[in-house]
Amino acid sequence: MKFKLFENKNCFITGATGGIGKQIALQMAANGCNLFLTATNSAKLKSLKEEIEASQDKKRNIFYQAGDFNKIQDINKIIALAKEKMLIIDILINCAGIFVVKNLSDSSLEDFETSFNLNVRSAFIFCKEFSKGMVKKKWGRIINIGSSSAYTGYKKTSLYCASKHALLGFSRSLHKELKDHNIRTFCVSPGAVKTRMGKLIENQNFDTFIDPKELARYIVFVVSFDQEMVSEEIKLNRVVIE
Ligand SMILES: NC(=O)c1ccc[n+]([C@@H]2O[C@H](COP(=O)([O-])OP(=O)(O)OC[C@H]3O[C@@H](n4cnc5c(N)ncnc54)[C@H](OP(=O)(O)O)[C@@H]3O)[C@@H](O)[C@H]2O)c1
Repeated sequence: MKFKLFENKNCFITGATGGIGKQIALQMAANGCNLFLTATNSAKLKSLKEEIEASQDKKRNIFYQAGDFNKIQDINKIIALAKEKMLIIDILINCAGIFVVKNLSDSSLEDFETSFNLNVRSAFIFCKEFSKGMVKKKWGRIINIGSSSAYTGYKKTSLYCASKHALLGFSRSLHKELKDHNIRTFCVSPGAVKTRMGKLIENQNFDTFIDPKELARYIVFVVSFDQEMVSEEIKLNRVVIE
């Protein structure tokens, strides 16, 4: 299904080379968006750009810049290039994330900082920066990828759970703050997904995990509504949990 709403919109995606980010990028391009992609690895971003271009019948503008979100100078470089290439970001998708699997006693201050730099701070910075243009344009969409860990605690993932709870709280506030400017903020919280990160989940059957392609289709669908109705907080569960 294609949604006219997205035609020629500028969409910025973090974690674009990841299992979920890549599927969202493909879907957004298929729906007519121009893309700005980020992740840590420039070669992977280049090959993703080429793959997306080859999959589309119509030409889209696709830009990318690699960077490590632990480094503010990298984030600033990404923002500067995105503004130079696109002027305004219409749709921001914060999908980059890190999943630290450690008991509390093994978790370091560095683990804490990396978890929050990736899962919370980067979303804060990109939301703050790109919402300025959305406010001017009186239209915008922000999609923060949360997790089932935003709603509960699990053993050995206290930092991940804490950071995703923070992202959910941040998203709830943003939704209330920005909706008067016609900017809708979504927090999409899936259970385990069949990706590289999903492989780190212990004692669970990977075969029962959510298909990232189906997840991306669902996200694009939910965000496509542009009238009075909004579903700003979305929890997506697996049918079978084993
Ligand atoms: N998989 C799951 O079971 C699951 C469930 C619920 C929610 N989520 C959430 O969904 C989002 C995407 O997860 P995924 O499963 O697609 O994970 P993934 O396949 O591991 O992808 C993670 C993405 O984040 C990027 N990234 C990692 N470290 C970075 C850094 N220091 N600076 C900038 N970017 C960095 C990676 O870039 P490189 O490719 O360059 O490393 C990659 O593009 C995350 O926010 C995650 O918490 C995942």
